Amino acid sequence: MSAEIQTAFKELLTCLQTAKLYGTVHPMFQRSLDKAYAAFDDVLTGRQEMVIGIIGDELAFEKEIFFDLSRLLKSAILYLKERNIERLAFFRGLSKEELGKFVGLIAGPKEEFKADPQKLLVVSGVQNISIGKLKVSDKQDQGSFALEQLNLYDTSADKVGQVLTGVLNSEKIDHLSLKFSLSNIMDSLGSQHQELLKLATVKRYDVETYTHMLNVSILSMYFASRLGFEKSDILNIGVAALFHDIGKMYISRKTLHKPDRLNEQEFASIKSHTILGAEFMLKYVDALGILPVVVSFEHHLKYDMSGYPRLGLLRKPHVASLIVSICDVYDALSQRRGYKQDYSPDVVYNIMNKEKGSSFDPELLDKFFKFVGFWPIGAVIALNDGSIGLVRSQNESDIQRPKVEIVSPPDKKRLVDLAEEKGLSIERYLNPWKEGKEYLRLAQ
Ligand SMILES: [Fe+2]
Ligand SMILES: [Fe+2]
Repeated sequence: MSAEIQTAFKELLTCLQTAKLYGTVHPMFQRSLDKAYAAFDDVLTGRQEMVIGIIGDELAFEKEIFFDLSRLLKSAILYLKERNIERLAFFRGLSKEELGKFVGLIAGPKEEFKADPQKLLVVSGVQNISIGKLKVSDKQDQGSFALEQLNLYDTSADKVGQVLTGVLNSEKIDHLSLKFSLSNIMDSLGSQHQELLKLATVKRYDVETYTHMLNVSILSMYFASRLGFEKSDILNIGVAALFHDIGKMYISRKTLHKPDRLNEQEFASIKSHTILGAEFMLKYVDALGILPVVVSFEHHLKYDMSGYPRLGLLRKPHVASLIVSICDVYDALSQRRGYKQDYSPDVVYNIMNKEKGSSFDPELLDKFFKFVGFWPIGAVIALNDGSIGLVRSQNESDIQRPKVEIVSPPDKKRLVDLAEEKGLSIERYLNPWKEGKEYLRLAQ
């Protein structure tokens, strides 16, 4: 899906460029509008809305940050930011006229956007596009934090907590907003604590590690919140998870990404990221507390006390480390591995379940899959009657039997709760980048 979204966004920017060069009545503009509209139409037949956010200097879509695309589009991102646009939402039903009017408006001088950019759209009759600042949580929420407020934040862990509380207070976890607030936290930490600028260094040094740390942080907070931890603990776990692999910036990139077996020396070097990370986080105990140190140190220690670093004194890892270690392995296994060898969710489940009681706390692992699901939401699956569906929500009482939206064949389209229809079951997972791709767009 993300490739189509990237294409739509690129076409939109080309169209904007054309509008600036030729104006909106020129045939060149019409041609580029046709192309952009076709790309949007493509995306919006597969989903109700497409929301893009500008986070720091990057473009983000739901859980993904488009680093590569962002680099190419630096000036366009700046252009939108100058117009107070950090969030763009396009809704199904968008007409070509609306898209054209929208492009015409943002091609105008930035001064016009000083006030509320959304108002400009409403006045022009554009209904299916919404633009503006990224909010950390919904407008209706009591604990909502707008960007202006975020800018006022200093770096104390307390304020960090407030931002994340705003996100966690909203009913459902909005990945984009969460990523946005984490990004702000990192920005503010970075500007005040010189050393923490190293997080940005990690991003430049190794994008994969950086994205992984963000993912693990989000997943750990979700897990901790479902486990019933207090807000303040959830936030502390989230911050600790965010820094869990910070020690990797001291490891050579060549070793980090070596595709073949590591030799003894290389493995020892990888293992040292736990100790190096803990040492690094020790400098920030005053601002962030002790948990980031503990989690950096312990996140590869297993439940049965094997793993690393080897400890002379046997002591069970901290519960935060146990939580982060589950989310850490889950994210590492679920990430795309290459065209041929992606792990499907059932494989990830089986690998992790085999280690129940050895690597992972058994009770925590069961709960993790109960909350996250065996088949994650959005997974494309084939049912035993030959139909294809998308997982829509979990049944915590039976993680193998979620609620599914059948999308193919067309005459079987419906929502089905597999917990109730015992005759139906999930037979296999379709890789969303390969055989599952065509079904994603059929979903309502
Ligand atoms: Fe690690
Ligand atoms: Fe990790």
